[in-house]
Amino acid sequence: MKFPRFEMERWQSEWEHHVRFNLGESGVHPLRLDEVVPAEERDALFKTELAYLQTDGTSELKESIARLYPGATADNILVTTGSIEANFQALLHLLEPGDRVLFMRPNFLQMQGLTQAFGAHSIPFYLKEPADWTLDLNEVSDLCSKGVKLIVVTDPNNPVGSVLSLEQRRGLEELAARAGAWLVVDEVYLGAELEGDTLPSWWGTYPKTVVTCGLSKAYGLPGLRVGWIVALPEIVQSCWAGKDYTSISISALSEKLAIRALQPDKRAALLERTRSIIRPNWEIFASWMEDLDGILTCVPPKAGAIAFPRYHLDINSSQMAQRLMKEKSVLICPGDQFGLDGFFRVGLGNPAAEFRQALEEVAAGLRLIRDQGA
Ligand SMILES: Cc1ncc(COP(=O)(O)O)c(C=O)c1O
Repeated sequence: MKFPRFEMERWQSEWEHHVRFNLGESGVHPLRLDEVVPAEERDALFKTELAYLQTDGTSELKESIARLYPGATADNILVTTGSIEANFQALLHLLEPGDRVLFMRPNFLQMQGLTQAFGAHSIPFYLKEPADWTLDLNEVSDLCSKGVKLIVVTDPNNPVGSVLSLEQRRGLEELAARAGAWLVVDEVYLGAELEGDTLPSWWGTYPKTVVTCGLSKAYGLPGLRVGWIVALPEIVQSCWAGKDYTSISISALSEKLAIRALQPDKRAALLERTRSIIRPNWEIFASWMEDLDGILTCVPPKAGAIAFPRYHLDINSSQMAQRLMKEKSVLICPGDQFGLDGFFRVGLGNPAAEFRQALEEVAAGLRLIRDQGA
């Protein structure tokens, strides 16, 4: 089994700590520990025994997570090390070599890489930019007619920040049901909506749905490395069997902090914080873009701390990202890393003042490329 290089993860990991402005992130600026735990609760946290935990998640944490999903109980939950492990375990359990997997594009390419590594076939279906990054259910229906084991969806989407309408969701569920396929839905950006309230989860309508999620994006707590799977109990059991081979349990400190973050009032405050960062930053971004003489156009994102503008310059996106990094010390993620050249992903999660400065650097870099060429 060989894993293809995960270009975006490697790009971020190699460079994000070496640039002046990191616009490569897809989540909001992370919280500090002292912002999460008030002074009067620190002594108790310090007394946490640094032990292994129940490996599928403690009952308390599983119940806290289950409360987010109507009709779910702790038996429907597997706690994982980030949603990245949730995706890994879900696909490890569901896929056999030779299976056909319909894979939403553009996308965070983890599950595509896993599909390849597990010897299955990944067949793309596309969110379309001219249709505001919505999908064509007829296209999916045609692909389903040739047989499909699994449909992989990221909703809200990374990198484009789109959200499928309830009609499109139902349409996809019907196609999955007709084909007898599983649906794996990565919902890690749910809760980071640019307008309105938190959208409902995909959980609860189509039984063969496996939802993956975690605290890294909408909650601003990526360093906790807490994620989860929501699925039928038999799926949870078999993903748990896989997890015994990868991470055993999450850390005892993360477990305590995750329970805290999921208390209803704390959760509401965390999601509110996220929105209070991304909503004004999107406004800043949109008006900045207007002053760029048409170099960029962008379908407004609906959720996630990300925008995915198209650039109207004659340069490959990875080359452009390299130049912005070297000449302006700004990290962005090139569209190439999502399988879509001609675009790049910008994080909307930085503090506003820093975000404005970073955008000034990007604007200068883009103008230079326009005037001097690649
Ligand atoms: C769609 C998606 N899923 C999963 C992950 C992994 O997140 P984590 O493991 O931090 O929860 C990311 C990270 O960028 C992502 O964009």
